[in-house]
Amino acid sequence: MQIRENKLVNFQEENSIKLKKIDYVEFYVGNAQQAAYFYCKSFGFKAIAYAGLETGVRDRKSFVLEQSDIRFVFTSPLTPDGPVAEYVRLHGDGVYNIALLVDDARTCFQTAIARGAKPIQEPTVFKGENGYIIKAAIAGYSGDLIHSFIERHNYSEFAPQYHPIENIPIAIPTGLVDIDHIVINVELGKMDLWAEFYHQVLDLQESQQFTSDDISTKYSSLMSKVLQNNTGQIRFPINEPAPKYHKSQIQEYLDFHHGPGVQHIALRTNDIVQVVRQLRSNGIEFLDTPETYYQNLPNRIGEIDEDINTLRDLKILLDRDETGYLLQIFTKPLVARPTFFIEIIQRKGAEGLGNGNFQALFEAIEREQANRGNL
Ligand code: FE2
Repeated sequence: MQIRENKLVNFQEENSIKLKKIDYVEFYVGNAQQAAYFYCKSFGFKAIAYAGLETGVRDRKSFVLEQSDIRFVFTSPLTPDGPVAEYVRLHGDGVYNIALLVDDARTCFQTAIARGAKPIQEPTVFKGENGYIIKAAIAGYSGDLIHSFIERHNYSEFAPQYHPIENIPIAIPTGLVDIDHIVINVELGKMDLWAEFYHQVLDLQESQQFTSDDISTKYSSLMSKVLQNNTGQIRFPINEPAPKYHKSQIQEYLDFHHGPGVQHIALRTNDIVQVVRQLRSNGIEFLDTPETYYQNLPNRIGEIDEDINTLRDLKILLDRDETGYLLQIFTKPLVARPTFFIEIIQRKGAEGLGNGNFQALFEAIEREQANRGNL
């Protein structure tokens, strides 16, 4: 496989829209109670806050889960109609909001709207016991994916109408540290438009791109562009299908999700061997990797700190670039439809996305896709 040389860009000193990092990711799901339980028990999250009838919210129920710097919110509808129910009816369980922490939510919102973004929530100030929070939101380029701007000032609660969970059930963290990147799948011909939107509206810069010649099997291929902020704390690879003889795996996602959306979230760890052992013993299933992948590995990767037999047993993938190497692994879909999954990644100097593994990942997903009769 040929990987096109990274198109490195010179970032401005600071984004003019000043995004800091991902504050939280909110999922709309059929049963928030069970989704929260699943992520606590299997991935080691801690449930920290709750919103619902008891906190004055009449139409939905939400749980906030936390592990180190990762925050997931799971929200379910309490009514048969309304935006949450409509999302779940159409897409199944999935990501609705990638919320971004900012210094100035009003300016971010006004700048984004002036640059053509669609408003979802005007900047609103909510006072807490001590400080305050300002929330605003814009629509993404298309589909049901939005971005909140969150500005916090000494605000100890998670968000208005959320109450802390008393007597937090014991959760054993698995060693996940933060969100490394979030991948968005979009329709054929739309990748450039989404990339342009994130560049124009949120000042994200294109750092890498892959063409259909880079990543392909005899059945299908994909194209990808990576958009990120100046610190790399917000990084969105955007994939579009490049159909060849059969249905691209990106197209399978689009068909079952009914439109563009988040394909996977990569969670970073400093000890992938320990995390994957723990997740496997908690019942999480990962994509399989063929034995042949490990035969060439020493030649391809060179010297590494880990024992190669351990990596082979756990099916962990490796990739090296100019600055170091990285280890990664992908779960099978975590929802009923073949859509959303999680990646676990550990970086040892490498700043890429595991480009050398795109092909291996692609082939592994395709085997699963064939089992589902969608190839
Ligand atoms: Fe990834």
